[in-house]
Amino acid sequence: ESTTVVVIGAGPAGLTVANLLRRCGVDCVVLERGSRAHVARRQRAGIVETRAVRMFESWGLADVVRGGPPHDGLLEFRIDGESRFVDDRDGSAGSGARLCPQQVLVENLTAAHLADGGDLRYEAADVSLHDLTGDRPTVRYRAADGTRHSISCDFVAGCDGEHGVTRTAVPEGVATVHTFDHGIGWLTVLADAPPPAHPLLAVSPEGFAAHFPRGPRSSRYYLQCPPDDDPGAWPDDRVWDALRTRLADPALVPGPITDRETFRLRGLVHEPMRHGQLFLVGDAAHILSPMGGKGMNLALHDADLFVRAVRDAVRGGDDTALRDYSRRCLRRVWSDQEFSHWLTRTVHEAGDDTDSGPFLRRLARARLDRLVTSPGARHAFAELMTGLDPAREE
Ligand code: APR
Repeated sequence: ESTTVVVIGAGPAGLTVANLLRRCGVDCVVLERGSRAHVARRQRAGIVETRAVRMFESWGLADVVRGGPPHDGLLEFRIDGESRFVDDRDGSAGSGARLCPQQVLVENLTAAHLADGGDLRYEAADVSLHDLTGDRPTVRYRAADGTRHSISCDFVAGCDGEHGVTRTAVPEGVATVHTFDHGIGWLTVLADAPPPAHPLLAVSPEGFAAHFPRGPRSSRYYLQCPPDDDPGAWPDDRVWDALRTRLADPALVPGPITDRETFRLRGLVHEPMRHGQLFLVGDAAHILSPMGGKGMNLALHDADLFVRAVRDAVRGGDDTALRDYSRRCLRRVWSDQEFSHWLTRTVHEAGDDTDSGPFLRRLARARLDRLVTSPGARHAFAELMTGLDPAREE
């Protein structure tokens, strides 16, 4: 069997690559380890930034970001109980960001790809990559019925997330992995409770908390907690008490909790994002602290650059963009890492109780004060939130 691109993983990165490839008439096969139901169940937040919304529009795929609650551009920062609103739009004409939970985007991309006749294979086990540095790499896997398959191709798109196999196919010594651990944990809670009017980020002496709309009658909440805290240490009453205190809202309406997890805030970048004919896309190459909502957007940006580069190579025999893929992706990756690091420190150095805590806390308050009062600071923030900073396009 043979194709042009084998895409490993059917998350936001893999499905975006697959949809865009079909739009430009390039063959591909998608191999996903999980079942369709498994992939659709994975719960994550998601703001699709302005740049990414317009990217989908430019490919004739505007509908894939529909289905989440609308985002009018306002974010609420509640600092020690005082509300300040920040506009995260840049004033340019055209569509703005969309609140689109990851599984809604994944479901829409899956449906669009299948409707378009795409080849999407679930429950593909033991995926392995061969001859990546030759002209025709091979991908082997075992199908759900136990049969073994081998696909030869021109390119492999490694879209299998943080714990996938493609990143490990890059030999030691070729790649460098840069990591940062904030030493901060988050409890994330999904509940059937009324959404806020605007995404709300609260900074308080008790720590960070956030409340995001998830649907017409559902919400996602975040609470800063010790790193590696056990979700079992957060019974319902403790969750709602902590939210009422940190959000400074004694009247917060609770609801049944449907999901509860903890994770650590950290950053990771795998450099370079290419090895031979293998191109890493999305979480396979980089992990971001969720502050700023850039993780999924970077995956969409990588996917767009990768597909345009493949199109140039396949149609016109021009591999300039392929050679530039890693450098161009990494430029935006590091810019977004910096943004997400800055925002993470700004909203968390609030309740720090180490020796330098009071100092850092005042620095963080000064940053927030600048953000809500200075037009220049607001503009820089909007530029990063929309993803439209023109300097980063090259
Ligand atoms: N073989 C085949 N598929 C695999 C393998 C494997 N060995 N390992 C992982 N996968 C699949 C997973 O089952 C998953 O469906 O690859 C997919 C990877 O999806 P994500 O982890 O969502 O990664 P990505 O598509 O890069 O998405 C990036 O979405 O997960 C969020 O926080 C993330 O916002 C970021 C964005």
